[in-house]
Amino acid sequence: MTGRNSYLAFGGAYHGDTIGSLSIGAGGFGTDIFDPLRFPVMRAPGFDTPNAIDVAIEMIVENCASLAAVVIEPLVQGAAGMEMLPAEEFAKLGIACRDNDVLLICDEVATGFGRTGTLFASEQCGLSPDLLVIGKGITGGYLAMAATVANERVYSAFLGDDLGPRTFYHGHSYSGNALAAAVALKHLELIYEWDVLANVNERSDQLRALLDAKIAERPEVKAIRLQGLMCGVELAAPREGLRWGRKVCASAVAQGVLLRPLGDVIVLMPMLTTTADEVERIVNVLDAAITEGTRT
Ligand SMILES: Cc1ncc(COP(=O)(O)O)c(C=O)c1O
Repeated sequence: MTGRNSYLAFGGAYHGDTIGSLSIGAGGFGTDIFDPLRFPVMRAPGFDTPNAIDVAIEMIVENCASLAAVVIEPLVQGAAGMEMLPAEEFAKLGIACRDNDVLLICDEVATGFGRTGTLFASEQCGLSPDLLVIGKGITGGYLAMAATVANERVYSAFLGDDLGPRTFYHGHSYSGNALAAAVALKHLELIYEWDVLANVNERSDQLRALLDAKIAERPEVKAIRLQGLMCGVELAAPREGLRWGRKVCASAVAQGVLLRPLGDVIVLMPMLTTTADEVERIVNVLDAAITEGTRT
C-alpha cells in the first residue's frame, strides 16, 4: 500500500541476522557494528514492560498511515531472556492491526511446533497472523528448513497472470528443498502420532512443580519464566560482571546437562519428547550448578 513503508517491532526482539531482520530486532548481541546498515523501525517496549502491548496499540493507531506491518514473537521473546506476557494480552494487538489495516507478522521460529504447549503460540494468544514465520522445529531441528506462511489475503495479493505485475519473484537456492520437506512432513506426522503436545504440557507442569520446590526460593534466583517447555531461570547476580549465567551453565554442562545462558538467564529448553526422569535430572543438575556457579 502506498506510503506504508515502516514496521513496528518490540524492544528485546530478535528475528535473525540478515540486515532486514537485524533492523526489526532490537539489537544487542554485538550487532552494533551493523547499526549503520540497519533501517529504522518503530519500537514498542519489550515484554519485560507489562503494558508493552497497550503501548504498541497506541503506536499503531497513531502511525497507521505509514505502517506496513507489526512484527512480534508471540507469547515469548526468546533471545531477550525468555521474557513473557500473559497469552490474554495479545488478542487486542491482532484486533488493532486488523482495524487499522496493518499486517501482523508472527515470528514463531522459536515458539513454533509445540514449544510453548500449543502447535503455535499464536493460537494461545488468539492471534491470526497475516504472515507466519517458521523455522527450527519445522523439521524437529534435523534439517535446515524455514518457511514464510501467508494467509489468503496476502497470498491472493500475489495471485495473477504468469509473469504479470503481481508475481513474487524472490526465492532462495534451497527453497522447497525436497529432502528437508520430506523430513518436515514426517516430523509433523510424528507430532500427532506421539501426541507430543500432551507430553510438552505434562512435562511443563512437572518442570514448574520441581522449579517451584527446588529453585524458586533460592536467594540466587530472581525469577522463573516458563511457558510449555520454554523456560528461563533469571539469576539475581548481586553485581554486574560476575557472569553467573555462564558459570552456572558451565557447571551444568560438566555434569552432563547442556544448558545455555542468555546473560544471567539460564535457558531450559529440553526436547519436546523429553521424559519425566530427564526433567528431574535437569532440575537436580541446575540446583547443584547454581550452588557451584555462584560461589564467588
Ligand atoms: C524468534 C526468532 N526469529 C528468528 C530467528 C532466526 O532464525 P534463523 O537463524 O533461522 O534465521 C531466531 C533464532 O534463534 C529466533 O529465535
